[in-house]
Amino acid sequence: MGTNPRYLSGVQPSGILHLGNYFGAIRQHIERQDNAFYFIANYHALTTLHDAEQLRRNTFDTAATYLALGLDPQRATLFRQSDVPEVAELAWLLATVAGMGLLERAVSYKEKKDKGIAASVGLFTYPVLMAADILIYDSDVVPVGSDQVQHLEMTRDIASSFNHRYGETFKLPAYKLGVPTPVPGLDGQKMSKSYGNTIPILLGGKKLKKLVMSIETDSTPLEDPKDPDTCNVFALYKLFATEAQQQEMRQKYQGGNYGYGHAKLELLGLIKERFAEAREKKAEFDKNPDLVEDALAVGAKRARAIARDVLDRARSACGIV
Ligand code: TRP
Repeated sequence: MGTNPRYLSGVQPSGILHLGNYFGAIRQHIERQDNAFYFIANYHALTTLHDAEQLRRNTFDTAATYLALGLDPQRATLFRQSDVPEVAELAWLLATVAGMGLLERAVSYKEKKDKGIAASVGLFTYPVLMAADILIYDSDVVPVGSDQVQHLEMTRDIASSFNHRYGETFKLPAYKLGVPTPVPGLDGQKMSKSYGNTIPILLGGKKLKKLVMSIETDSTPLEDPKDPDTCNVFALYKLFATEAQQQEMRQKYQGGNYGYGHAKLELLGLIKERFAEAREKKAEFDKNPDLVEDALAVGAKRARAIARDVLDRARSACGIV
C-alpha cells in the first residue's frame, strides 16, 4: 500500500444494480482495489427507502454483486456503512461546524424534494453524513460522477471548518471525476432506476432476453439501411463489443436487410457472455449468504479500526472526553 492513495466510495443500496451503475462506477471500483474502501451506504438509503426487508435484501444484493463481479475482500475493504456506527457520531460532530447556508445550497436535496421525496432532517443533512463517511477513513481520493461533485466540495468545506476551529484534524480529500460513459436505458433516456428503464447487471435467462428485446428502436423497415449512431441497441452493444465486432455490426446496419431484432440478439449474447461467471457466483452467494457475511465482516473489522482512530482524534480535538 505505502504511498498508494486511499480510494473511497459509497454506493446506495436503493435498488438492484444495473448496467448504468456498472459502467458508471462499479467497473472502475473492481479495477482499483488496492487501498480501496467501498461501502454500502445503507444509512443513506434510509432517506429514501422505507421498507426494512427491501433495504436488507438490497444491501445483501449489492455486496454479493460486488463480490461476484470480482471484488476481492482481502484486497479491497468492502463493508456496510452501518457496521461502522462511529460514522454516525462523527456526523454529529461535523454537523456542529457545518453551516446551514452550506446545506441549503445543496442541489441534490432540492432535486430530491422536487421529485416528491419527503424532506426529512436526514435527507437535509445527507451531505454531513457523507462528509463523515469520507473523512473517517482519511480518504485521499473519492471517485465520483458529476452529480456528487458538490457533495465533495461540501466535505472539503466542512473539514476545513473543523480544522480551522479545532486545529488540523482531517485530511482534505480530492475527488476524481470519472469520464462519463453514457448508458442508454430501454427507452433511450439515461439508464436510471428513477426512469424504470434499467437492465440489472446479473439478470439472466428469459427475463434478460425479454428486457433486451424491449429496447426501443425506430420503425425503419427491415430491408432499409439503418443508422447505428442513433440506435439505442448499438449504443449498448458498443459498451460490450470489441472494435472489430462494432465495425461488423456497423456494416450490417448500413447494408440493410438487418433488423433491430437481429442486433438485439447479438447484444444479448455479449451481455450474457460478459457476466456469465459473475452470474454463477452470485447464484452461489444467494444460496450461501454466510459467504457474503464473512466477506463483509473482514471489511468491517478493517474499516472500523481506522474509523475509531480518526473519531478519537476528532473527539479529543473538540473537547469530548
Ligand atoms: N451520495 C452517494 C450517491 O448517491 C453515495 C455515498 C454516500 C458516497 N457516502 C459516500 C459516495 C461517500 C462517495 C463517498 O451516489
